[in-house]
Amino acid sequence: MKIAIAREVDGSEPRVAATPDTVKKFKSLGIDVAVEPGAGIKSGVLDADYEAAGAVVSADAVKDADIVIKVKRPDVSEVAKYRKGALVIAIMDPYGNEAALKALADAGVSAFAMELMPRITRAQVMDVLSSQANLAGYRAVVEAAEAFGRAFPMMMTAAGTVPAAKVFVMGVGVAGLQAIATARRLGAVVTATDVRPATKEQVESLGAKFLAVEDEEFKNAQTAGGYAKEMSKEYQAKQAALTAEHIKKQDIVITTALIPGRPAPKLVSADMVSSMKPGSVLVDLAVERGGNVEGVKSGEVVEVNGVKIVGFPNLAGKVAASASSLYARNLLSFIETLYDKAAKSLAVKWDDELVKATALTKDGAVIHPNFQPKA
Ligand code: NAI
Repeated sequence: MKIAIAREVDGSEPRVAATPDTVKKFKSLGIDVAVEPGAGIKSGVLDADYEAAGAVVSADAVKDADIVIKVKRPDVSEVAKYRKGALVIAIMDPYGNEAALKALADAGVSAFAMELMPRITRAQVMDVLSSQANLAGYRAVVEAAEAFGRAFPMMMTAAGTVPAAKVFVMGVGVAGLQAIATARRLGAVVTATDVRPATKEQVESLGAKFLAVEDEEFKNAQTAGGYAKEMSKEYQAKQAALTAEHIKKQDIVITTALIPGRPAPKLVSADMVSSMKPGSVLVDLAVERGGNVEGVKSGEVVEVNGVKIVGFPNLAGKVAASASSLYARNLLSFIETLYDKAAKSLAVKWDDELVKATALTKDGAVIHPNFQPKA
């Protein structure tokens, strides 16, 4: 069996799907590994490092591979180079991209979306949403600190006192929790909000204050899968009224609110942005799904009356070496479930819960129930 590590063709994607450590692990399982030249360079991994771990570096790496691993979904020109029937495992961004999924099916590959991995105990080690969101949450605070013209911690000096920065985190999933923890470590006074009641205790356990409209709808906002539901118009209006008052007094707002398969909820209006003091900073982690902040622009820092709205996509990619190393472990763990160690061959169990949840295409068709072509 052979695994290929593809180089990302998207120049803005610095992550890579394998590290020398995971290459060594594949080799120890009896799996051959081929790497496209330069695949790891933006994550600090040289071709020579992969070679030293036992991989072959070759421009033809993907050609006869049984499995191609990537960070982002391959486009038509990439997938044309893969063997028919090959497995392609990546972060596929399937929602709203039905045409791209059809192209993968047409190319005859079996595509798997790592972000659809079920959040069950067995698959925790394969959870890319968590591994990447955690780093993105950390990086969001670093970006905020960089854009903010003041210090985060309170400093009492002979020349006067610098007050602690006030940070408000909206959306307390994996990214939000790490943002709270990071902002606290930098000495900020942190508040946070979410629509899922379970987050209240988590926020408080990190030493931050919780703020939310805690009505009946809030009590039922969490789905069985642990995700948020889309809230009613009435709830959103109450939530907006509460947060509008709070945001006025904040120095930094970090938004991370997402609803799986839906556009990001709009939580911060243009009026709320203009109510903030000049010098304040908003970092919108939801920018790739439309953004939580009105006026955010992907890849830009927009300035409105001295308030900065930071809209960098792929914040995990800004800590590429760390993000790649965690992503590579996520992939290794998943691939171990697709492999028969004794026979040293590919053995996909198509009825396994993990495979059923992540498999998008097979034998020329889109097989995932959530992404069936509309009649
Ligand atoms: P996410 O990235 O889908 O959303 C981020 C946060 O935004 C969520 O906490 C969500 O409740 C919140 N949100 C949505 N609409 C909002 C609104 N209108 N206002 C304020 N906040 C809003 O969430 P993530 O980070 O993927 O976590 C989702 C859940 O999965 C959590 O319960 C988390 O603890 C759980 N989880 C479970 C794992 C496992 O069992 N293996 C691993 C990681 C997370």
